[in-house]
Order: sequence, then structure tokens, then C-alpha cells
Amino acid sequence: MKITDVKATEILDSRGEPTIEVAMYSDDMTSVFGVPAGASTGKKEAHELRDGTDRYNGKGVQKAIEKLESIRSKLVGQELYEQEKFDDLLISLDGTEDKSSLGANTIVGLSLSYTLLCANTKDQPLWRYIADTYSTSPNFPRLYANLVNGGKHAPGLDIQEFMIVPKNNNMPESIEKISEFRIKLKDELSKIFGSGAELVGDEGGFAPTGATAKQMLDLYKSINNSMDNYFEFALDSAASSFYKDDKYVYEKNELNAKQLMDLYNRYSNDYGMLSIEDPFAEDDIEAWQALSDTDHKFLVIGDDLTVTNYRLTAQYAQEKLIDGVIIKPNQIGTMTETMQTIKAAGENNIKTIVSHRSGETTSTFISDLAYAVGAFGIKIGAPVRGERVAKYDRLLEISKEIR
Ligand code: PGA
Ligand code: ZN
Repeated sequence: MKITDVKATEILDSRGEPTIEVAMYSDDMTSVFGVPAGASTGKKEAHELRDGTDRYNGKGVQKAIEKLESIRSKLVGQELYEQEKFDDLLISLDGTEDKSSLGANTIVGLSLSYTLLCANTKDQPLWRYIADTYSTSPNFPRLYANLVNGGKHAPGLDIQEFMIVPKNNNMPESIEKISEFRIKLKDELSKIFGSGAELVGDEGGFAPTGATAKQMLDLYKSINNSMDNYFEFALDSAASSFYKDDKYVYEKNELNAKQLMDLYNRYSNDYGMLSIEDPFAEDDIEAWQALSDTDHKFLVIGDDLTVTNYRLTAQYAQEKLIDGVIIKPNQIGTMTETMQTIKAAGENNIKTIVSHRSGETTSTFISDLAYAVGAFGIKIGAPVRGERVAKYDRLLEISKEIR
């Protein structure tokens, strides 16, 4: 079975910004993948190609589409079911270290629509094809539901994501409980901050302005109490976004790394924290090291630090800086490298959390990926806004498929 055609179009993502949608064809099957985009990106992520012209504030992706057109003849005729060979071809056609020639957005669009086409032509759900191909053990991830947004995803709070994580991985039940929690939170927030607090940020979480992290966590704790403590809590600090001149500008105070670490330990003691992602800036390695050397009760997760790169993941896992790693295919660019990072995490005994981006499409690839590899967690925002709901709904669909 061969690729018979490839087409790319410029579509809009959930922020209303342009992105690439790749359609790939075999004789009688099609696959479509819409590429997501981050706002709080790590410096070492593979390079996203944008036009930089007047259209869409420089964010158009016509250049990336032209690049794809220019290699189309080399892609048509390639055999299916040879992901590594296909990804190697993309990497060699690009020829740069950071995928800046074709663009990581072009490459990830091609690589993942190839995976999807392989699954479709075998008439298999995507998760099944991935599990068979990479000999992984499917299992439902725990849901990291981001119900309050800050950082680069909403005005207001400095911490980017306040997440609730059901203690079990029962799909219908945990999704229902998350929704119940969300409705209670909405009522509480509008009582305290007025009805404007019901507005949501990029990932569908509420975005109260004038609120503090402590206020949010107090609310989380009291709602959780009223629900038999069904949840644990997790944060994504995305701390690079409030790191300025070697200081953390946090809730209007300038903190050094030690003070920020003390604050995390206080949050952990007072509220219980399952995990904290990017607690320090990606350049502040000393702080990560100091945290690793100190007793802490939460899992430390790398995202901007590790950028789904298998070498960085293995290195920081071995140096004991991280207990888990965020998996975002578009940070590295290909399915093969994404799977290498998941493998590196497993070999080094750290957890994987598959994740969406703040700018999403309705593609549900990551839901299948997280289930296929039996990831520890999946981050797909709040269960509102179509692009996030699509991922929750896909997990529900998988739970029916396996019955
Ligand atoms: P991003 O945010 O997609 O804007 O990078 C998500 C995250 O930091 O986990
Ligand atoms: Zn993150």
C-alpha cells in the first residue's frame, strides 16, 4: 500500500490563528490531521514555520504549505507501515537540526497523518495500530483537567494551569466528576469575583483576574472535600514565562528560586500536589537541581525543559531532575521521535503525560496516543470548547471500543 497523494491547507486553530491541515491519501483511504500550536513554547522546540508577512499578524502558514508542495512528488509513492523510514525521509528532506527548513508544523502534519493513514488502511482504530506497531500496553491515562488558566493563556494568574486529576482512570466516571467539579467552581468563582470570572482562557479553564493561586487552591480544596476528595491537584507553572533577570516575578513579588521552591512545598503541604510541571525556568537548571536535592512530595514534570526530545528526557531523568515528561508530538516533529521519547521515559522509569497545545485543532490523535502507550496522564484542558471536548469524547469512544 502506497501514498497516492498529499495535500495541505491553511485552517484556523482554536485561537483563530492559521495552522496546517494535512490530508494524506492511499488508493481508497484518507487521513486528516490538523496541527496544534503552543503559546508558552520551550526554546528548544523544533521550529514552527510562519510566514512573517502582513497576513494574520505574520502567523500565516502559506510558506509551510509551499514547502510541502515542493516535496510532494517525493512523498507520493512511499510505502505505508514504514513510519521510521518515512520520518527519516522527512528529516533528510528538511536537512536542519531544528526542522526549520520544512518547518516542524509541516513535518508533524505529514508524520502524524501518515500514522493515521496506516491505521485507516488497516481498518484499525489509531490506538490499536500504534499499540501493535510499537508493542505497547494500552491503558487509560489519568485525566489532567485544567480548570483555571493563567500565564500566557489568560490574563490574571501567574501560574499557567491549575489542574484537577481524578484518582482513577475510569473514563466515563472521571469525566462526569470533572464536569461536576467545574460547575461548582463556576458558581463559586462568580460569587467571589463576579460573573466575568466565568469567562475561559485558551484551554477552556476559568480565567479570574485579581485572584491569587492560594484563593484558587482553597476553592479547589473545599470543592474537592465536598466530592469525597475524588481528585488530586496538579500545577503547570510554565515558570519560564514569569522568569525575568534571574528572578521569578510571582504575584507582584520578586522571588528567587529558593523562595519559589518553598512556596511549592507549602502548596504541596497545604493542598497535596500530585505534580508540578516546569516549576522553574528552562534555563534555571540550578533550581531544578536544588529541588531534586530537597525532599518534595510532588512529581516534577518537564515540558519546556524537555520539549519531547528523547536525549533531553533521558539526560534529565538520569540526573534525577524530573519524575515525568510531557509528550507533545509537535515539539519534536515526528511520530518516530515522539515514540523514542516515550521509550526513553519508560527506560528511565519516569512517567509520561501526553498533552495538547494551547492552540488546538479538533484532531483527536493524542487521545489515541495516550491510551495506546498506557501513559500515566493526559492533559487536554477543561471539558469545554470544541477542540478540547473532542479529545475527551474520543477517550469516551475508545472506552466503548474496547468493551
Ligand atoms: P502551550 O502550553 O501549548 O502554550 O505550550 C501548554 C503547556 O505548557 O503545557
Ligand atoms: Zn507546560
